[in-house]
Amino acid sequence: MSNEQKITTDIKVPNKDLETLKIHFPHCFDKDGNFQLEKFKNNLTEKKINFSTESYGLDWLGKSYARLLASDPATTLLKADETHNSKPENVNSENLLIKGDNLEVLKHLANAYYEQVKMIYIDPPYNTGSDGFVYEDDRKFTVKELQNLIGIDAEKAKRILDFTKQKSNSHSAWLTFMYPRLYIAKQLLKDDGVIFVSIDDNEVAQLKMLMDEIYGEENFVIQFTREAIKGGSQSKFVRETHDFILVYAKKINDLEFVGFEKEELELNLTDANGKYAKGRELNKWGAGSRREDSPGMWFPIKGPEGEDVYPLRNDGSEGRWRLGKAKMKKLVDDGDIIFEKRDNGTYIAYEKLRGNKSKYTQFISILKDKYINAKGTEELKNLFKQERAIFDFSKPSILIKDLLILSDIQDGDIVLDYFAGSGTTGDAVMQLNAEDLGSRKYILVQIPEPIDPKKNKLAFDFVKTELKAEPTIFEITKERLKRAANKIREENIDVPAKSEKIKCAGIDGDHCPACKGEHTIRTEQKEAIDLDLIDLGFKIFETTPIWEDYNFEAEQFDSSQTLFDAGKLIEDDCISP
Ligand SMILES: C[S@@+](CC[C@H](N)C(=O)[O-])C[C@H]1O[C@@H](n2cnc3c(N)ncnc32)[C@H](O)[C@@H]1O
Repeated sequence: MSNEQKITTDIKVPNKDLETLKIHFPHCFDKDGNFQLEKFKNNLTEKKINFSTESYGLDWLGKSYARLLASDPATTLLKADETHNSKPENVNSENLLIKGDNLEVLKHLANAYYEQVKMIYIDPPYNTGSDGFVYEDDRKFTVKELQNLIGIDAEKAKRILDFTKQKSNSHSAWLTFMYPRLYIAKQLLKDDGVIFVSIDDNEVAQLKMLMDEIYGEENFVIQFTREAIKGGSQSKFVRETHDFILVYAKKINDLEFVGFEKEELELNLTDANGKYAKGRELNKWGAGSRREDSPGMWFPIKGPEGEDVYPLRNDGSEGRWRLGKAKMKKLVDDGDIIFEKRDNGTYIAYEKLRGNKSKYTQFISILKDKYINAKGTEELKNLFKQERAIFDFSKPSILIKDLLILSDIQDGDIVLDYFAGSGTTGDAVMQLNAEDLGSRKYILVQIPEPIDPKKNKLAFDFVKTELKAEPTIFEITKERLKRAANKIREENIDVPAKSEKIKCAGIDGDHCPACKGEHTIRTEQKEAIDLDLIDLGFKIFETTPIWEDYNFEAEQFDSSQTLFDAGKLIEDDCISP
């Protein structure tokens, strides 16, 4: 295959619900694999399960159309940006920035990343009426086609097509937009994964019902209230200063939240390095704890007698560590692991918690002060060296960083944000990796939305003249990721300790006794981190339309392959069908 197109095409969204039904109710499927609803209903009625048609739930004009959108195959190809991806900082990167409509991109990701993503954060259009949200859809169905496809009457089909063509921002239009994007996202989440969705009063009620339907009410974790602005603008009734973050687990029983700061644990044990408390197991438990769930987390560490200790599960099978290589090595080197022998002679490892590590307080559901929008604006102003923010309403990276900490995102875990905006999520992942030499990965998706020069002239001019690119938000995302990476590089160079003499500011006009008019200030030596240990690059892919005479047979590659793999293959120039 030529190196021009690296493609994933024609992916059917895997439907696990249907697979589960097939396993348990095989007689409810016909020979072509079609689900027979009536047979299923009869089966339930026989078992005395009431099959009343009246039930509680969310309905809107376009719901069946939204379901069709979720199951429709992708209509685009994914193409690598060879020039960008072959740069030294990107060539081995496992971070991804994908340009395109996120519905298409999610469909491309749905096979290879099926149950691979640990955390999703999204900040979709709030549908405030002034945020520019309108439903746009280029699928050109006729009334008859739509009727046949989703089994509705002509009048309903016509009303749906009206709003898909007329750029509506009704609740129905917003729900139709969100449904398939949340539905496929759920398929990408690991069993112990979690999704955070920012939203405000305009659609919070609709979103809560929608999430209950897609993720299951039992998987609801919390609705955070976030202080978004200080003070707020003048209002007829009450100044609104907050928005929300809805949180759902893929499977509530598998979710592990670690809390934020640590609650004071009693330091009741002592070793040569002082007092400590026994912390969590370093062997991963429960969902995702097998070696094949995370092959990179299966490696030996030095045991109490210098022997190789691997993460074995209680039943003796191969497991995985909870922390990555760099962190485990540091714990071993610092003597911060307790090895406990099981009856079968294998070890279970626990972390020793000292000092601040032993303090633990849970997150509370109101997020204040450091999480306000103004902090995000400030960050962008500094990164882009501009007097105004180049992107309106970016979230502060500390918000996403704390959500990553809360979700216990560890080495090798994938974080997805498919409404990337200015790329805050990618920035937060890199910052956290730089703090603990972690290897979390991000996938960001951003549509090449044109920047309106009337609304943000600064951004328009910046992209056009400084970046010499088509003024779209995607270019801002890309540039933010580069600048955020550079900031980490700049902040992590060796700073030697130095002494400096400064004039004494004095007390009441006199310099302080014995200082002779001068003070010596000493700054401590700051040791740089090994930047090679963290991934500060990213690969770019973009969706492109399928052209009619395209030779799929020859050019298609295995859609079960991740784009990280694709990146490696591109590097070796050996993609073959
Ligand atoms: C509210 S902003 C996200 C801001 C982001 N959290 C930040 O901190 O910068 C929503 C973003 O989603 C993008 N977007 C909207 N519809 C999209 C779609 N269908 N596919 C991909 N991106 C989309 C918009 O262009 C916008 O940049």
